[in-house]
Amino acid sequence: MEVLINTSQPSVSQNRQADITFIEPSDCSVHIEQNDALAFLRSLPDESVDVITTDPAYSGMNQYLKLGSGRIVGDYSSKGLDESKWFEEFHDTEDNYLQFLGECQRVLKKNRHIYIMFDSYSMLTLSPLVRRFFDVKNVICWDKVNIGMGHYFRRRHELIVFASKGKKPISAKNIPDVWRFKRITKPAYPTQKPVEVFEAMLIASTQPGFVVCDPFVGSGSAAIAAIKRSCNFIGCDSSSRAVALATDRVLGYQKTQLDVMQTKSSLAVAEDAKWFK
Ligand SMILES: C[S@@+](CC[C@H](N)C(=O)[O-])C[C@H]1O[C@@H](n2cnc3c(N)ncnc32)[C@H](O)[C@@H]1O
Repeated sequence: MEVLINTSQPSVSQNRQADITFIEPSDCSVHIEQNDALAFLRSLPDESVDVITTDPAYSGMNQYLKLGSGRIVGDYSSKGLDESKWFEEFHDTEDNYLQFLGECQRVLKKNRHIYIMFDSYSMLTLSPLVRRFFDVKNVICWDKVNIGMGHYFRRRHELIVFASKGKKPISAKNIPDVWRFKRITKPAYPTQKPVEVFEAMLIASTQPGFVVCDPFVGSGSAAIAAIKRSCNFIGCDSSSRAVALATDRVLGYQKTQLDVMQTKSSLAVAEDAKWFK
């Protein structure tokens, strides 16, 4: 397995297609670079990825849930600086999101799947736009099992829109639309998701050798899931810290088969193991 790391940041108009080598199915290569999601997607060839599994950094919660004088995440006057907030948000404007979805539609092969994670706020504003580009098939509820933060009802779930470009069944008929995977407690990266959430997507939608794409890679949970499911991975993050963490994590996993950022399984109950294997 090969890990290709590219921390250069080409401009949006720069075309890097020649830099990206799509590897043979048996290679299970990983390519992670520091880049803006839109610039990254624009640099990929048409119909070059087999599945998109992504968890964008929405700004909806900060935009819509105003509490007293402050916002929920960080100090906005120093937004994006490493010392004050860990990452930039991907702004929930319709225009931004339409560009993002249009690029996802272009790079995804025909008869393939996309999974886009939403929090409750972005779900209300952005998820209807997905229908303009894809056939929405399900809204999956990720039940985090343990209760989290929240100012009214405390949050215990996130939503995942599952959609297709063309026709493609999922791999099994016994997978429910509620997935119980325990949240990561005290994560090394603040929005780190359990690898199993991404593995569940890949169980349903991939076969060995598929190219998995996540343009908001964060700590690299989707990359680890791709390796575990014998797929190739291509992704980016705008944060140098995220790219460094994801890179170390993938390199470590490649060497030791141990995931240093998630040492315990997130599987909640034995019943779930029936379809999750
Ligand atoms: C919700 S987190 C992803 C977490 C990831 N799924 C994990 O398990 O660690 C969203 C990520 O998007 C990144 N991000 C924000 N704006 C971006 C942009 N315009 N392009 C690419 N990445 C961006 C943030 O740095 C953050 O790491």
